[in-house]
Amino acid sequence: MSAIKLKDKQFVPFIAESTIIHKIQELGAVLNKDYDGKCPLFIAILNGAFMFSSDLFKELNIEAEICFIKLASYKGTQSTGHVITAIGLDIDVTGRHVIVLEDIVDTGKTLHSFLPQLHNQQPASLKIATLLNKPDARTHPVQIDYSCITIPNKFVLGYGLDYDGLGRNIREIYQLSE
Ligand code: IMP
Repeated sequence: MSAIKLKDKQFVPFIAESTIIHKIQELGAVLNKDYDGKCPLFIAILNGAFMFSSDLFKELNIEAEICFIKLASYKGTQSTGHVITAIGLDIDVTGRHVIVLEDIVDTGKTLHSFLPQLHNQQPASLKIATLLNKPDARTHPVQIDYSCITIPNKFVLGYGLDYDGLGRNIREIYQLSE
């Protein structure tokens, strides 16, 4: 692994592919135990979580469903403020054991705005699983139930995460060079 340049920025190797895969296998084993007999519904948030959710889903040996959504944010009226809606959530979550899959929880703003909407639909349980967690960047409280790798507050890309649309195909995770 060597440094790469994408557009105007330089990135250096940070997390090896083997480490990522190992952490995902560990998470898969935990989920196989925690959700045995519960037929959980995984809701993966696009675009960033596509690679993580695909590799995690392959680790499951229990009955499970997955769907992929996009979150669109728009400015609501003054009373509603910043609103986030889910596009593509075509499965009824009521009474289901739901696990939301994120690539990274950074400020927490996205999940903080979106999770109440899922709660309103009364799932049997609602948990968050993320590949990367940046706790030092948090400005909005979010309870993360399953986290593969905790990282410092630095911009990263690769393994589904992008910089200005690029870098999602890189198999390892790189971080922005100072
Ligand atoms: P939030 O700040 O927790 O709301 O993060 C929202 C989204 O921003 C994440 O799901 C990622 O898609 C993206 N994001 C946050 N931090 C990074 C990063 O370091 N690299 C690439 N994308 C990021």
